[in-house]
Amino acid sequence: MGVIMHAIPAPAFLFNLCVGYFAPRCLHLVTQLGVADVLGNTPMSSEELARATGAHADSLHRMMRMLAAHGVFERRGHGWVHTDYSEHLKERHPQSQRSFVLMMGNDINWSAAGVLGGTLRTGETACDAVSPGGLWPYLRARPDEARIFDAAMNSKSHMAIGAVLQGMDFHRYEHIADIAGGRGHILTAILDAAPRARGTLFDLPDVVAHALTHPRMKGQAGDFFTGPLPRADVYLLSNVLHDWTDPQAIAIFRRIREVAPPHAEVLVLEMMLPEGSEPHPAVAMDLIMLSLTGGRERTQGEYDILLAEGGFKLDRIISTDSPYSILVGKVA
Ligand SMILES: C[S@@+](CC[C@H](N)C(=O)[O-])C[C@H]1O[C@@H](n2cnc3c(N)ncnc32)[C@H](O)[C@@H]1O
Repeated sequence: MGVIMHAIPAPAFLFNLCVGYFAPRCLHLVTQLGVADVLGNTPMSSEELARATGAHADSLHRMMRMLAAHGVFERRGHGWVHTDYSEHLKERHPQSQRSFVLMMGNDINWSAAGVLGGTLRTGETACDAVSPGGLWPYLRARPDEARIFDAAMNSKSHMAIGAVLQGMDFHRYEHIADIAGGRGHILTAILDAAPRARGTLFDLPDVVAHALTHPRMKGQAGDFFTGPLPRADVYLLSNVLHDWTDPQAIAIFRRIREVAPPHAEVLVLEMMLPEGSEPHPAVAMDLIMLSLTGGRERTQGEYDILLAEGGFKLDRIISTDSPYSILVGKVA
């Protein structure tokens, strides 16, 4: 019947749901303040943390209490200590999520979410109403925010890198092209795992200019709607198609198809929307796309149709331990 049974009464459930946005807001602000890096191995009081970060002690205390209620930081006596979740907010944690949290809390995200009612009426991307031209020109005009965005993709890619290395054997490819690969965090991890392969990182000029370096990776700056793409044995599209509408996603496939040799494969790494209404991270990600980029998350069947329209046929689907799946397409 599609009825979800909740353990708590409906009024309390709806109260929690509608006030829930304060938890992410506290997470953004406390992360921005750098509390996770200031807090060491011994408990620190809210006053000590406030002094060290330049915050207002009582406001910080109340935000820390909200975060602790979600398992991020923990109260010990009169002080605060780390939990595994808050450890991941440290800048130097090997799987740091700091940049992703900062990016999700930046002004453009909150402003776009604030005008999402317009999207509900018209279907127009909320971000475009806040910043004409949308997200990518917005970032190009603000290098500091652009660097946070790129670093956020790096943070988010820990899951994607695990998924791609678990799901695929890259040894059989000589030349791997990562299309819209950001700073190259996924491509460099793939090249480390496939010592005979070389890679091309393709992205917008200012992104490629700040990319990571790898002895077997070269950068190619361009626009995948207009510029020439590299000729390669395999094309990775990780978290790219979900930024775009169906016609734009098909256009990206077609641009690849124009240069791809007949044996080439295309790997689509995305979260697949479930067919039903079960919880899945792709559901929230879909609304982020609705708000920010005008793109969308898709079901496996919907990706299958885009591949076919773009000149590829679905060869196989690889599920991973993460929310990501890999669709492998071959030249049709
Ligand atoms: C969501 S990020 C994904 C980055 C990376 N593939 C990953 O999985 O972490 C989307 C990327 O698309 C790039 N991009 C946006 N518009 C583009 C265009 N017209 N041509 C090439 N790259 C573009 C952005 O610069 C950004 O790096």
